[in-house]
Amino acid sequence: MKHDIIITSPGHKGTLERLTQEFSAVKLFAATDRAAALKEAASKVRGLAHSGHANVDAALMDALPKLEIIANFGVGVDQIDLEAAKKRGIVVTNTAGALNECVADCAMALVLNTLRKLPQASAYLRAGEWQAKGTYQLTTSIGGKTLGILGLGRIGEEIAKRAQAFGMKIRYHNRNKKNVPYAYDPDAVTLAKNSDVLLVITPGGAETDKLVNAAVLDALGPQGYLINVARGTVVDEPVLLRYLQEKKIAGAGLDVFEHEPKVPPEFFALDNAVLTPHVASATNETRTAMGNLQIENLHLHFAGKPVKTPVV
Ligand code: NAP
Ligand code: 8YV
Repeated sequence: MKHDIIITSPGHKGTLERLTQEFSAVKLFAATDRAAALKEAASKVRGLAHSGHANVDAALMDALPKLEIIANFGVGVDQIDLEAAKKRGIVVTNTAGALNECVADCAMALVLNTLRKLPQASAYLRAGEWQAKGTYQLTTSIGGKTLGILGLGRIGEEIAKRAQAFGMKIRYHNRNKKNVPYAYDPDAVTLAKNSDVLLVITPGGAETDKLVNAAVLDALGPQGYLINVARGTVVDEPVLLRYLQEKKIAGAGLDVFEHEPKVPPEFFALDNAVLTPHVASATNETRTAMGNLQIENLHLHFAGKPVKTPVV
């Protein structure tokens, strides 16, 4: 017997294929009449498979009175109204752990590319400027620099391992001090002050909204770099843009933005920023592993067993 679910967005191709084969699925994203699709789903749907950054709010949950589980494709659940889910007793799952290595690789690549300006150097060569103007400008070394990790969780710890292999010193700030061999700073400003590179990998949502603000960027200073692989909302984006334009910080490597996929075009003109379109977990292997975990959680729940990666 196939259990009834609703799928909110097409997401990863292989995962969508499995979801539609293994469950009886209403494809909300493909419906021309959303209200009619929700009405069809209301009488039967017990599971919701979500991916991407559209909101899963109380209104959507209310439209699905039989909903028992929201299985998210992704570790971050800031787009899901967890309070509303809790009130209804709806289980929420994520894909914690499945993407740690991949996201950490990408974070480290942003550190390397932002400090060494490799994308800018490549553009210089491709534009014929090497021959026309001579060698590319000198950049700054990675080894010996201090990496401040804001949010030393599952992914943050993987980033720390990689950065150490590149000769970086590690510091961190979380709300709770951990039993790790890295120096702890009591707040984001102090961490920024003590770091050459501040790397943000906290969750998004109200708790971390604009945690990286002007005071944090001032503490990082004109020689400091910001890397954000967390969520765009964690950084005050207009302030960051101004600080990059005015060289009040040295540079930034950004995988996430406040209003994705819209990125303020002023960022494109910056020579001191490396920008990627939220690709930190975007490999075939990792996206397949994320989908497998999302689907496993749905099957476990419908079998009456504990899910693997519960959030609520
Ligand atoms: P995690 O294991 O829960 O780690 C999050 C860390 O952030 C914890 O150490 C937590 O420590 C700290 N933290 C939470 N709130 C904080 C606050 N207000 N101030 C300071 N530190 C705070 O999560 P994870 O699996 O590493 O994932 C982290 C986040 O990365 C996700 O939620 C997601 O937003 C983002 N992410 C982005 C991509 C991408 O494609 N760019 C991919 C995957 C994940 P305390 O609780 O002690 O504060
Ligand atoms: C995905 C992510 O891009 O896991 C997360 O929190 O941000 C990324 O891995 C996203 O969740 C895909 O929906």
